[in-house]
Amino acid sequence: MPQGPILVTGGTGMVGRNLLDLAKLRNVDIVAPSSRELDLRNFDAVRGVLRDLRPACIVHAAGRVGGIQANIREPVAFLVENWDMGKNLLMAARDAGVARVLNLGSSCMYPRNSPNALREEEVLTGQLEPTNEGYALAKCAVARLCDYISRESRECQYKTLIPCNLYGKYDKFDPQHSHLVPAIIHKLHEAKSSGRDAVDVWGDGTARREFLYAGDLADAIFTFIDRFDSLPGVLNIGLGRDYEVNEYYQAAAEVVGYMGRFEHDLSKPVGMSRKLVDTSRASQLGWAAQTSLVEGLRATYDYYLNHLG
Ligand SMILES: NC(=O)c1ccc[n+]([C@@H]2O[C@H](COP(=O)([O-])OP(=O)(O)OC[C@H]3O[C@@H](n4cnc5c(N)ncnc54)[C@H](OP(=O)(O)O)[C@@H]3O)[C@@H](O)[C@H]2O)c1
Repeated sequence: MPQGPILVTGGTGMVGRNLLDLAKLRNVDIVAPSSRELDLRNFDAVRGVLRDLRPACIVHAAGRVGGIQANIREPVAFLVENWDMGKNLLMAARDAGVARVLNLGSSCMYPRNSPNALREEEVLTGQLEPTNEGYALAKCAVARLCDYISRESRECQYKTLIPCNLYGKYDKFDPQHSHLVPAIIHKLHEAKSSGRDAVDVWGDGTARREFLYAGDLADAIFTFIDRFDSLPGVLNIGLGRDYEVNEYYQAAAEVVGYMGRFEHDLSKPVGMSRKLVDTSRASQLGWAAQTSLVEGLRATYDYYLNHLG
């Protein structure tokens, strides 16, 4: 491993904060400027910081991240900002001679009709999901730029991890911005606190989703920084199995202590029937998630109670 700190972008986000927590436990030397200290849309600023800092490795966990409504409303911002941040960071890293970059992609990079489980070689083989196409295009382009730089400049190894959906500490629980798992925790906690005996579930609850505890993604990132040479250009990181939406509600109800009923609202949209990433490559490389769904839900609910509930 080259000398120098690890630079983490997006250190104030959910992924970044889980990464910083683990870095503290493992005594890893990390530098993590916020967007106010280093706006990645400003190429000159990024180049200046990288030339001064000369990090051994960069983890790119910054991005404009949002739910389906925001993606539909503002595709220009999702495409342009995510591309600008990724492109500026990678080009400035190459300019500063940074040897290793670990870029974070997203499972929305997979074509909407790819068969489950989603294998790494399926990226850019078909039409993207239209509701988040801008975001997905930027993610695909940044991953490809990592490949191109690695091929052109032998001293640079720039690679991409594709995590499945995440949940965990530092998640967003506000219903306007939350994903499925934090939304369920918040809903069940509110129902329990106000004595309601029914909670609605959109659709019949049989759609399947994969969620990884964000602390496990942090573990994967440090694991593969240590084994950078064996890491392929693109690697899925997931729990390795999915659950029905109904199962997320049931497991969260046990953790939260909600004893009421679930009422399925069949008039509501449910999205894709399944989205699971293939984790066989990661397993072959010796990494698997360590946190079970119930353990992850407990830790997330503890965080919710201590900080928000
Ligand atoms: N959350 C998931 O379920 C999930 C799943 C798969 C992949 N990922 C990927 O993981 C990465 C991190 O996601 P997250 O959930 O941690 O997102 P998040 O909580 O929304 O955090 C986003 C981070 O990006 C930073 N950022 C935004 N604009 C910036 C700019 N112009 N310059 C510098 N930094 C900027 C933010 O910094 P400030 O707060 O300082 O503005 C924040 O630290 C993203 O690439 C995302 O695609 C996330």
